[in-house]
Amino acid sequence: MCRVIITRNRSVAINDRGALILLQLSFMYYMFVSFSLLYWASTTTGSPCDRLFRSDVDKNGTFTSPGYPAAYGPFMNCNYEFRGHGRERVQIIFTDFVLHHPHDDPSEKPHHPWLKQSCDGADRVTAFISVGGNKEKIDDFCGSATPRELMSNSAVMSLHFHSTTVSRGSRGFKARYSFVSNFGITTGEQISSSPCAFRFNSTTSTNGTFWSPNFPGFYPRDTECHYFFHAQVGERVKIVFSYFDIEGMIPCGLTSASDFVEVSNFMTVDRKLPRYCGLQKDLKMESDGAFFRVTFKSNDRFDGTGFFASYQFTPVADAVTITRRRSSSPASSSPYPPGCILLFYLLAYLIS
Ligand SMILES: *[C@@H]1O[C@H](CO)[C@@H](O)[C@H](O)[C@H]1NC(C)=O
Ligand SMILES: *[C@@H]1O[C@H](CO)[C@@H](O)[C@H](O)[C@H]1NC(C)=O
Ligand SMILES: *[C@@H]1O[C@H](CO)[C@@H](O)[C@H](O)[C@H]1NC(C)=O
Repeated sequence: MCRVIITRNRSVAINDRGALILLQLSFMYYMFVSFSLLYWASTTTGSPCDRLFRSDVDKNGTFTSPGYPAAYGPFMNCNYEFRGHGRERVQIIFTDFVLHHPHDDPSEKPHHPWLKQSCDGADRVTAFISVGGNKEKIDDFCGSATPRELMSNSAVMSLHFHSTTVSRGSRGFKARYSFVSNFGITTGEQISSSPCAFRFNSTTSTNGTFWSPNFPGFYPRDTECHYFFHAQVGERVKIVFSYFDIEGMIPCGLTSASDFVEVSNFMTVDRKLPRYCGLQKDLKMESDGAFFRVTFKSNDRFDGTGFFASYQFTPVADAVTITRRRSSSPASSSPYPPGCILLFYLLAYLIS
């Protein structure tokens, strides 16, 4: 109310036709704001099926749609809110998912096959994350295809379940939540001083696998993870990406707002090596020396399903064979090029 009065006073001070327009505009603005707030309040409070999960109470657990596995009722609006802290991320894994979709009814066949994909007018679960303090929708999930794993970009996340007028006996969904600090990456040794970094030491394991955060689900936004490979002296590391789906456009830079994978023989940027994004098949690489770094980085827009890779520390076979060839061949063991030797014999012949 105070704000309206202040606006009115200001407008009156201007005292011309512009003031009237200004007054109308500010009135419309305040109506918009208050309706938005009312709408927000109606969707965020007051439903008996709302649930709040806090990581200081439980690090993991399950949750379901109302009445699961019995059919859920019509006009449901349930909020499931997850609140962790620090560098915890919320991971949601759906284990069962059967929601009523109007296009499942033979009487309501879609006119176009692609309509099946749309969640408009269907019972649905919507996932929200927080970007810069604002609630942002990641996606809608509907029908009976189990959604991929979800992971938040921060310590909070929320899901909203909405059912339409009819449920026709659909049993709903069941899911597992966990507050994780390892981004769903369970190989390597996590470096606790870093937000997301993993160390792979040849002395611990000569081969193994690693993957992007939340793989095989969509990777979270605004996330940077490092994978450091430490070979022993005389070893290199070979890396093969058997699955690679990183949202972006070559050259995977800022201008195309790309997510990317950067690889390097150093802690710093390796100008010889490109960044990778998009869909790649059987991407392979080998380190120049005993250290190698793989870095994954996502921005605050769009998501891919990430990567799955294997690594192997191998002795540097090439160096051994080169050394052996050198020592067994007398010609190449000479410090002088063959031309010099010929010149020497020619000179010796001429002098004598
Ligand atoms: C779930 O959390 C408990 C501690 O709250 C822990 O002991 C258990 O290992 C966790 N289970 C999974 C699957 O993360
Ligand atoms: C790798 O492991 C060895 C043996 O445990 C250790 O001496 C070495 O410092 C480790 N390297 C790194 C970079 O952690
Ligand atoms: C990977 O390491 C295991 C032992 O940790 C070994 O048995 C296996 O042969 C290795 N695989 C390859 C391809 O080197």
